[in-house]
Amino acid sequence: MTLKLNDHYLQKFIRPDEYQGMRGAVTAAHEALISKTGAGNDFLGWTSLPDDYDKQEFARIKVAAEKIRNSCDVFIVIGIGGSYLGARAVIEFLKSPLYNQLNGTLPDIYYAGCNISAASLNELLAICEGKDVCINVISKSGTTTEPAIAFRVFRALLENKYGKDGAKDRIFVTTDRARGTLKSFSDAAGYETFVVPDDVGGRFSVLTAVGLLPIAVAGIDIDALMQGASDARRDYACPDIDKNDCYRYAAIRNILYRKGKVTEILVGYETYAQMFNEWWKQLYGESEGKDGKGIFPASVIFSTDLHSLGQFIQDGTNNQFETVISIENSGTGFEIPVDPDNVDGLNFLSGMDLDAVKKTAMIGTLLAHEDGGVPNIVLELCDRSAHSMGYLIYFFELACAISGYILGVNPFDQPGVEAYKKNMFALLGKPGYEEQKAALEQRLGLN
Ligand code: PA5
Repeated sequence: MTLKLNDHYLQKFIRPDEYQGMRGAVTAAHEALISKTGAGNDFLGWTSLPDDYDKQEFARIKVAAEKIRNSCDVFIVIGIGGSYLGARAVIEFLKSPLYNQLNGTLPDIYYAGCNISAASLNELLAICEGKDVCINVISKSGTTTEPAIAFRVFRALLENKYGKDGAKDRIFVTTDRARGTLKSFSDAAGYETFVVPDDVGGRFSVLTAVGLLPIAVAGIDIDALMQGASDARRDYACPDIDKNDCYRYAAIRNILYRKGKVTEILVGYETYAQMFNEWWKQLYGESEGKDGKGIFPASVIFSTDLHSLGQFIQDGTNNQFETVISIENSGTGFEIPVDPDNVDGLNFLSGMDLDAVKKTAMIGTLLAHEDGGVPNIVLELCDRSAHSMGYLIYFFELACAISGYILGVNPFDQPGVEAYKKNMFALLGKPGYEEQKAALEQRLGLN
């Protein structure tokens, strides 16, 4: 079994009748999803994606990845939110957060256009000096400010270094099939383009070219990734929560939310899970946080954060639950050495594998947090393979949709994201925003 939901640490918090009480809502959410009658039903392309993806484009992604691997030292992925988090999460989870230090002959991978930071952009430009560079700009809308600025900068860098013709072979664009300035501009310039399908939103797009091209550049088996997602799709087809851990997770979240547990903390026990946590936070935060509702998605890496946030989780405001990802077979080992003098008193651990120590720390923490009144869902992932990663991605995407429908929101829109953009554009003087600019300046006491 690739993934198993262990509810042992929930038993004090959820009664059997509360599970039964969720059956109707889960079935209704399932029906809405499969009949495509729920809110946001024009954004359900991700549900069938693991099987019904564009096979020709998939083959083209592999060819482009090979070309990128053979022609650059540095590969810059330009995108923000759902347009970069998935790729980075998968690369760091399956390779390492230290990928650039450990990647052998593969290109280093950096991320641009995911902030508005002069420091970050200047650093990336310095890193590119004297190096061969390729870029992949990823933007479904093609108009997002942060990646658009970065693309302008790196396009200029490539054109200065290689000329317009040379740059053309180093710029890869992932965007809408037909709409948007990025698409028309790329076609005119002759860049190779990949598609973000119309019916797949940014945060559900990791298994499209959005995620797959950078992931393939990092040397990860994208066939295995898709197969994992496909297996999850098959395994989570039945709406019965006794037989479907994915739906059970969605139900549990909503039961706990109704009991005042308004924060969910995703817990990883490996540093390589950090960016996966970030991907998950965006998926759940943007999908559920609306209409005055939603569980706030937070994350930690233990045991590191047991020495920072551990105190709060154990003893602080009691409005949270944890979802722990436990990787059962980490595929690596490290034996704790013996010190004949035992100066540090640690010889009781000598010869033990560090992974076993970690698992013991996890069990100790689960018990302590249970005592502290914090419910824990444990997701046992069989290993750290591309297949399991694809499976876990689909698990969380599907659970997010079901959970959002149970909550009564449209999990596929993000109207709140526009508010800051409108203010920023107005204050920056973007044409068309004159009225908002005057109103904002008045609020700020500037006129
Ligand atoms: O999930 C989403 O829809 C967002 O996070 C988008 O991915 C993000 O805002 C970037 O948008 P775009 O790909 O249009 O540049």
